[in-house]
Formats: sequence, C-alpha cells, structure tokens
Amino acid sequence: MLTTRFSTFFGLQSPIALAPMALTSGGALVAACAQAGTLGLLGGGYGDVAWVQKEHALALSLLSHSPGALSRFGCGFITWRLHEDASALDWLLDQPHTPAALMLSFGDPRRYAARIARRGIPLICQIQRIEQLPLCLEAGAAVIVAQGIEAGGHGMNSLDGRSTVSLVPEMADQLQQRSPSTLLLAAGGIADGRGLAAALALGADGALIGTRFWATKESLATEAAVKVALETSGDATARSPIFDILRRKNWPNEFNFRAIRNLLHQKWESHMPALMASPEAARHDYDAGVAANDFDRAHITVGEAVGLIHDYPAAAELITRIHQQATQLLSR
Ligand SMILES: Cc1cc2nc3c(=O)[nH]c(=O)nc-3n(C[C@H](O)[C@H](O)[C@H](O)COP(=O)(O)O)c2cc1C
Repeated sequence: MLTTRFSTFFGLQSPIALAPMALTSGGALVAACAQAGTLGLLGGGYGDVAWVQKEHALALSLLSHSPGALSRFGCGFITWRLHEDASALDWLLDQPHTPAALMLSFGDPRRYAARIARRGIPLICQIQRIEQLPLCLEAGAAVIVAQGIEAGGHGMNSLDGRSTVSLVPEMADQLQQRSPSTLLLAAGGIADGRGLAAALALGADGALIGTRFWATKESLATEAAVKVALETSGDATARSPIFDILRRKNWPNEFNFRAIRNLLHQKWESHMPALMASPEAARHDYDAGVAANDFDRAHITVGEAVGLIHDYPAAAELITRIHQQATQLLSR
C-alpha cells in the first residue's frame, strides 16, 4: 500500500527517511530506523570526524548481521560547513561500507557531487525554495527534500522560507517538468500517519522526519529535554538566529534555526542588534544554562511538530504506527 518510487529505489518497507540530525541521529537511531525498513541517515552535521567515526562504527556493528538493513544506512552533512572542512566526508568516502545515500543540506552541493557519484552513492539534496532546484539537478541529485519552514533545526529564514503544504506540490510540478526521474521527499511538520499520507497526496515519494524521531528511545536527545518537549505545544517554537549566535555558529544569513522559544530566546527577540553587537554576556548565560541542564536557557531543537509528540517510543514502534495510520487514511 505504501510502496512508492522512493521505497522501491532504496529497498524500504515504508517511504520514510530519518533526518540526519546533528548530535541526535547517532548510530543507534540510524540502525533502529534501517532495521525497521526506513532510510537511516547519520547526523554528520558540522563534520566532527571523531563523532562520525564513533557513531558510524556503532551503526555498522548493530547492523552487521542484517545485510538488508545495512543497505539502508546513509549519512548527511551541512554543506557550507564542508566548504570549510570536508574531512568527515573524505573519511566516509574512504570506508569499505558504501553509504545507502549521502544527503547535503544548506549550500551548493556541486563541489562534492562527482566524488559521491564515483562511489555510486545516491545524492540527496535538501532545499527550501524552488529557485534552489537547478543547482541540485546539476549536481545529479537522485532525491530532493523539500523542507518547509515548520521544520525543527535549521531551515530557510522567516522572510524567504516556504511552508511544506505549498512547497511540496510546487516542487513536484517542477520536477515533473525538469527531471521526472528525480525523487521527492517532504520535510517539515510531519510526525504521524496523517503527515505521511498528506506528503504522498501532495506529490512527494515519501517523508523525511526529524522532530518526531528526536523523541525516540534510540535518539541522542536527553530524557530531560524530551520530558520538556512532551509538555510543549507547536505554538511554542520559533525560528531565529538567536541560538546560533549564542552557540557561536557562523551560519549564512539565509538560514536560521527553529527551537523551543524559551525564556533566554524571548529575552533577546527584541534586542537582536544588541545581541549581535555584543554577544559575550548572553553566551555565558547560555553556556551556564547548558551546564545546568536548564532549558529556560539551553535550547531544545524541535520543530512545530513537537505539538504532535505525546510519548517516547522506540523508533521501530513509531515507524509501525506512522505506516499503519498512513495506510488506513490512504485506503479510505
Ligand atoms: C534536532 C534536529 C537536528 C537537525 N540537524 C540537521 C542537520 O544536522 N542537518 C540537516 O540537514 N538537517 C538537520 N535538521 C533538519 C532536518 O533535516 C529536517 O529538515 C527536519 O527535521 C524536518 O522537519 P521536522 O523536524 O518537522 O520533522 C535537524 C532537525 C532537528 C529537529
């Protein structure tokens, strides 16, 4: 029932990909998702080689007796950061295990495309606007992820971002005209079978899910943070550069970050020029919050879909639930 071009291409039982969430999609979560028949993408994030090596080894060891699942194990990186240091990608491309896919988000993917293609690895490009599509097609992307502004973590800033429900069908139409064999995933706000069914109805071949997998047993999110998220409505997140400034992350202006809009975030919302001009005191406040596990100051990275999270299941249980609900809805 839920067989799509995406599930067929990657040998999946459900047309779902685990988003490559930095410091969240580690080896255990990736392995659980791959074993449950979805595409598991390791959160290579900013390209910390030691982290990638450790979590990659964990996933390989957990999947060593399941060749089918091993073939559903891939990785993702933040593209602009690779321009500064691509050693984690270099390391990955030198490994004997060929990743099921490599996903690049937030920047021009063309510089890496030829090397990825030479290893026969399908390239997945996550984008937020239609005008970003030509570069990805030029890079030979096998899959485009259309990421709406509802998404957790980084995405397009509020001026330029698009919402999932209109971006996905417009992207589907564009792909139909320009490159019909390129697959399309929807991302941003998808957390249950309703979201997956909607993604397919909008013309996507599947869904890339982050926030909902963040709150699973195998995720590297801490239990304390998940406990806060379980009490949080989708109304209570915001997109801004505030946490990037506080974390000393040098993101290009076109992108910013969705997380829970906690007290520290609210404090700086109307004082952005002051924060940018002199961030050190605020950074100390933030660092102290992180050290104390104080989520009024430390950030919790989730998207609007946080309001759809009411429990803390194992990833496999969640996947079964999403799959069954989507199947029921689509068969009505
Ligand atoms: C905790 C967290 C970390 C993320 N880290 C990354 C990342 O390192 N690279 C990336 O391409 N996307 C990252 N994302 C965004 C996802 O790729 C995806 O677009 C998003 O999670 C989809 O929306 P959703 O959160 O509503 O499911 C992250 C998202 C979350 C929630």
